[in-house]
Amino acid sequence: MAKVIALFNQAGGVGKTSLVLNLGYSLSAFKKDGHVLLIDMDPQASLTTFMGLESEDLEQSVYDAVVGDSPAPVIENIHRMSLIPANLNLSAAELELPGMLNREMRLKQALEPLMDQYDFVLIDCPPSLGLLSLVSLVAATYVLVPIQTQFKAFVGTEKLLGTISRIRSSGHNPNLEIAGFIPTMFDKRNAQDERTLGAIQEQLSGLAKIYPPIPRSTAFADASEKLMPLEVYSPRHPIVPILRTISKGLRALK
Ligand SMILES: Nc1ncnc2c1ncn2[C@@H]1O[C@H](COP(=O)(O)OP(=O)(O)OP(=O)(O)O)[C@@H](O)[C@H]1O
Ligand SMILES: [Mg+2]
Repeated sequence: MAKVIALFNQAGGVGKTSLVLNLGYSLSAFKKDGHVLLIDMDPQASLTTFMGLESEDLEQSVYDAVVGDSPAPVIENIHRMSLIPANLNLSAAELELPGMLNREMRLKQALEPLMDQYDFVLIDCPPSLGLLSLVSLVAATYVLVPIQTQFKAFVGTEKLLGTISRIRSSGHNPNLEIAGFIPTMFDKRNAQDERTLGAIQEQLSGLAKIYPPIPRSTAFADASEKLMPLEVYSPRHPIVPILRTISKGLRALK
């Protein structure tokens, strides 16, 4: 059965989508092709774009499986991974889901037929606490939280943890576990980044593992612009072994 990991933080631009792509690629290296599935749950469709697809040209997207009754459309073999893509249609789901029976379970149910085909399913959540994040977290076995090492980003963590607790206590996903926190865009020359990293370690390490920080690096953005995982764009980049360490940690999850 697949480990389903939602990359979640309601704060925008903290590195969720880049990590879904890059950790997915890193995880896919451990075994022969075809065992990592990425799901784009953000109407901005950045993951779909990063994976090299034109989101407006899609005939089917995750929307058709979550709101409609179609099977989830899986596009195979992009950088050794599979993708369930999104486009702007998905923004309508926030309006349509509230009227639907069993709305919290819609993604989980759509994924059920795929669960024995993959070792890892990584879900790219949108930067919000709305229904799209909710259905993603209900479908997940684990939540992995990127946190930018800046004070402003850190103050939203309490809200984020509250959301995770509510999902557990609502009964929709009582076993949801935090797989860890990943400090992102870390600049070791910046005193505020060092302080925030210290605060993350101090305040969150009792809740879950704190992974090594991902340094701020233009190579990350350059690789996405070229529509490639960093490891393909620049195999010797110093962030590549950090991604491997994190993916090893994810492989070790029960
Ligand atoms: N470690 C990094 N160093 C520098 N730039 C980065 C790093 N990680 C991501 N970026 C860049 O920062 C921007 C935001 O990253 P990304 O899209 O992964 O964040 P996100 O949390 O998914 O954003 P959103 O909340 O809008 O979905 C992108 O342009 C990305 O290329
Ligand atoms: Mg994103």
